[in-house]
Amino acid sequence: MITYNNNIFNIETKNSSYVFTDENCLYNIYWGEKIYGDDLTYLIKERSHSSFDQNINLEREEYGFWTGFSFLESCLKINYPNTRKLDMKFIDYAIEKVSKDLERLSFRYKNSYSELYVTLLYDVYAEYDIISRHAEIFNAGEEVLIENLKSASVSIPKLDHYRVNYLTGKWAAESQINAQYLTTGAFTLQSRCGNTGPHFNPSFALDDGTANENGGDVWFGLLGYSNNWQITFERTIYNNVKITGGVSNFDFTYTLKTGETIKTPTMTIGYTSGGFGDMSRKLHAFEVNHIFPKRGLGRVLYNSWEATYFDVRVDSQKALAERAARIGIELFVIDDGWFGERNNDNAGLGDWYVNKEKFPKGLSDLINYVKALGMDFGIWVEPEAVNPDSDLYRAHPDWIYRFKDQEPLQARNQYTLNISKWEVKEFIIDFMSKLLSENKDITFIKWDMNKTLTDVSQGDTVKDKELWFNHAQALYDIWAVLRNKFPHVEFEVCAGGGSRIDLGILQYADQCWPSDNTDAYERLFIQEGFSYFYAPRIMTAWVTDASSNNPRKYEKPYSYRFHSSMMGVLGIGADITKYSDEVLEEFHKYITIYKEIRETVQYGKQYRLSSVRNSSLHAVEYISQDGKEIIVFAFRQGYQFGGEAPNLLLCGLNPDALYQIDGFDKIIHGSTLMKVGLETSLWGDFDSQFLKIIRVD
Ligand code: GLA
Repeated sequence: MITYNNNIFNIETKNSSYVFTDENCLYNIYWGEKIYGDDLTYLIKERSHSSFDQNINLEREEYGFWTGFSFLESCLKINYPNTRKLDMKFIDYAIEKVSKDLERLSFRYKNSYSELYVTLLYDVYAEYDIISRHAEIFNAGEEVLIENLKSASVSIPKLDHYRVNYLTGKWAAESQINAQYLTTGAFTLQSRCGNTGPHFNPSFALDDGTANENGGDVWFGLLGYSNNWQITFERTIYNNVKITGGVSNFDFTYTLKTGETIKTPTMTIGYTSGGFGDMSRKLHAFEVNHIFPKRGLGRVLYNSWEATYFDVRVDSQKALAERAARIGIELFVIDDGWFGERNNDNAGLGDWYVNKEKFPKGLSDLINYVKALGMDFGIWVEPEAVNPDSDLYRAHPDWIYRFKDQEPLQARNQYTLNISKWEVKEFIIDFMSKLLSENKDITFIKWDMNKTLTDVSQGDTVKDKELWFNHAQALYDIWAVLRNKFPHVEFEVCAGGGSRIDLGILQYADQCWPSDNTDAYERLFIQEGFSYFYAPRIMTAWVTDASSNNPRKYEKPYSYRFHSSMMGVLGIGADITKYSDEVLEEFHKYITIYKEIRETVQYGKQYRLSSVRNSSLHAVEYISQDGKEIIVFAFRQGYQFGGEAPNLLLCGLNPDALYQIDGFDKIIHGSTLMKVGLETSLWGDFDSQFLKIIRVD
């Protein structure tokens, strides 16, 4: 519920209050556990220290317009031909009920001396204690240059300590949980690589250093933006903490023409008193119901990448497909190498026609074979990039980003296409439409992007600075067009592993590829970090052989590999042609179990019971929406002789209900399972256990 009384905007969600005032400037007075927000009129007062710091309330501003007496990160900075000062005056606000789950507060300003309007929007999803914020800037006056564009600032109550929990990473080691205490000053998470990036994910969870999985105040946020982004945490000398997120200041300007509106990325924020576990469960439910394009069960897929790499030939793929069908695969996906002269990463990227040598009778030969085996078909593409050695590049050398008269940088022997050029955008939409309409049985696209953006220029030093932003917009536009034209096709987002995972692209993607590291043990770390902010429904996880992508050559037991990959959308990436019938039968057994429990894993409530980061036991529990089915995966990686692992304590059960554990003849109470727990039978190196528990009504 949103109300406005006595200069107080009070956003009340199921368990939280977000309260701010418009007295003097728009500043936050409280965000946290639910209270009576209207009581807080006593907190509305001037706060000043000296003529140097005349208005300390500006440190808690909801959306700062530069200029003025605020010296923190602002949200909007604009250049007019003859001034840079913005003088934004409040016009009106509106509260509307958009749908059953969504209430919206919008707050409108106008510049006093020009026709520039700014609307701040607060989309309130009360059920999840989540607010999605963004701003829209509409220019009815003369053309202006935007120099800083942020989505929102948020403030949290004053605490003794502030700990930022966030994800860091690099290729093959994405989504590692990290933490940093704020000292007075600024701390920034960002990407400057033209993509969401592997180094930091645009997400955070802030606490006072005492929150854990099961309790404690946590303020969290995620930016939905798949290009250069920035989240700055400023802890001021007056102990205010202001978190400002949006488009990165780095190499950014945007010319806002007359009649044009620019929308900032969305910053989604939330609060819980239930610790990191509850934060994740809130986010997972919110994403499933309000971000992801559609619902439905993730199909068990096979991907050929690690089995055949670039050598994607119809015969080898048929051999894999025949085995894949036997073990119960539902979706057979061919990866890189099926097109142009793509025999390695040196050539062919951009030439989106079927390689005749590898597929003499065209793609339909394989697609029909796969369909006849009862599986769906999917295919890999990387539309934003091009090899210099390709017909596409030879025909259109001007389609890539490049600085005038300079040789652009290559990574993985490729350049990036300037997809914001209309002709490039059209080329991508055309070839994708042709691929999908000529092959109506393609129902899954893995969309990759394997280069950080460099040389981002088309030769106009002012306009060049908006290319980053335009790249992201063009990408979203292309995906929106394709999704609309081909509603039966699912899209998986990949960028050299997990470099493009954020709530922006996830409005269009059904799944994402979190990492090229498919080692089952390493994945426990990556998947745990991923689960902090993103739902298991979209996390693809393959069972593979010891792959070249990671240093752990030790082959884990099949059970361990399957259990690790069953915690998201299960896939197989191993070379299944080399396995015996007995092994394939074992694969089939796991896939059958997974199909029975996947709804609980993909859409259930997830509890991280114990973490590989600080325990010899790693365990994750999933409870079905109706509370009747409970699935637990437990892992133990190194066993010291005589060492006892702690009992497995379950979470989220009804203490008084009775539960039946598969393979255990006694029925026990929820409270017993949560307080005393189960002894694990884990033994030796890389052992794992799968438990299915049913509530007995
Ligand atoms: C990237 C992806 C891999 C695979 C290769 C193909 O590295 O992350 O999964 O698709 O590209 O070249």
